Amino acid sequence: MSKNVKKIIGFLVLLVVLLGGVFIFQRTQADTKPTAKKETPTVGVLQLMSHPALDSIYKGIKQGLKDEGYTLNKDVKIDFQNAQGDQSNLKTMSEKFVNEKVAAAVGIATPSAQALANATKDIPIVLGAITDPKGAGLVKDNKKPGGNITGVSDQAPLEAQLELIQKFMPKMKTIGIISTSSDDSAQVQAKMMTELAKKANLTVKNYTVSSTNDITQVAGQMANEVDAVFVPTDNTIASAMQTLVAATDAKKIPVFPTVDTMVKDGGLATIGLDQFKLGVETGKMVAAILKGDSKPATTPIHFETSGTLYLNEKVAKKLGITVPADVLKEAEKSGEITK
Ligand code: TRP
Repeated sequence: MSKNVKKIIGFLVLLVVLLGGVFIFQRTQADTKPTAKKETPTVGVLQLMSHPALDSIYKGIKQGLKDEGYTLNKDVKIDFQNAQGDQSNLKTMSEKFVNEKVAAAVGIATPSAQALANATKDIPIVLGAITDPKGAGLVKDNKKPGGNITGVSDQAPLEAQLELIQKFMPKMKTIGIISTSSDDSAQVQAKMMTELAKKANLTVKNYTVSSTNDITQVAGQMANEVDAVFVPTDNTIASAMQTLVAATDAKKIPVFPTVDTMVKDGGLATIGLDQFKLGVETGKMVAAILKGDSKPATTPIHFETSGTLYLNEKVAKKLGITVPADVLKEAEKSGEITK
C-alpha cells in the first residue's frame, strides 16, 4: 500500500470516530435536555385529618413555597392527600407518593410522617409541625437527622403556658389535662405539663379519650373535678374543640389549649405558636430541598422558640372570668384577641 493510501485510510477512520462521537453526544443531549426542562417536581403532602390547626399548616406550606419563588402548578405541583384520620389511608397514600416518585413529601402530624417514613428511605421527607421528631422515631438526632427526614417541630412553650394559666387562676388547686390515648404527641405534652404543674404544687388530674365520641362524657366529669383544663396539641380534640368547650362551659371551667386555632375555637387563652407560620417554615424547607440547597440528613429540625399571646374575650365574658390587666395589655400590644 502506498503511503498516500494509508494516510487516506487513517484520515477516514479518524473522521468516522469523530462523527460517531458527535452523534452520541447529540443523542445524550437530546435525552436529558427536554425532560429536565419539562418535568415539574411534585411534592406529596399527607395530612392526617382536617382540623383548623392542620388546615392552617397546609396553607402555610403553600405560602412558604411561594415565598421561595415557587408558583404552584408552574414550578411545583402538589399532590395533597387527606387521610381523614385513617391509618390504612396513611399507608396507601404514602405508597402512592413513592410510586409516583415525588421529589419530596411532607407529613402533617406525627402519624402521617411515620407512614411516609415507613414507605421510603430515599425520598426527602419534611415534617410539618411534628411535636417530638426524635421521640416518634423519625430522626436519630434533632440537630443531625442523619437520614431522609428533617422538618419543623411545633413543641409548645409549656412553661409560659402554665404561667399564663396561673395568672388567670391564682387560686387554682387542681388542673385537668385531657388528651387522646392514641395520640403520641399529645401524650408527650400531657406528661411534660403534668411534671411542670406538679412542680408548681398543683394537683394534676389526667383524663383520656379514645375518640371524639368520648369527649362530652369525659369532659363533663372532668369539669366537676378541676379548676381549669389544659389541652395539648391533640389532633382528635383539636378537631372537636366545640364539643369539649360545650361540656366545660356548662360548668364555667376555662380551657387553656396550646395553639392559636384552638383559642379561636373556644379556648380561653394561650401563649402558643402560629400554625400558619409553622407551615410557612415547612414550605421553605421543602423549597430548599427542591433547589438542592439542603439535604435532610444535615438539616437540623426547626424549633419555634417563642409563642404569641392569644386571648378569646368572648369566652372570658361567657365564663365571667376577668382578664388580668397585664395579660390584656400584652394581648393588645403584641398578641391576638378574638372579640
Ligand atoms: N404536633 C401534632 C403531631 O405531631 C400535629 C399538630 C400540629 C397539632 N399542630 C397542631 C395537633 C395543633 C393539634 C393541634 O401530631
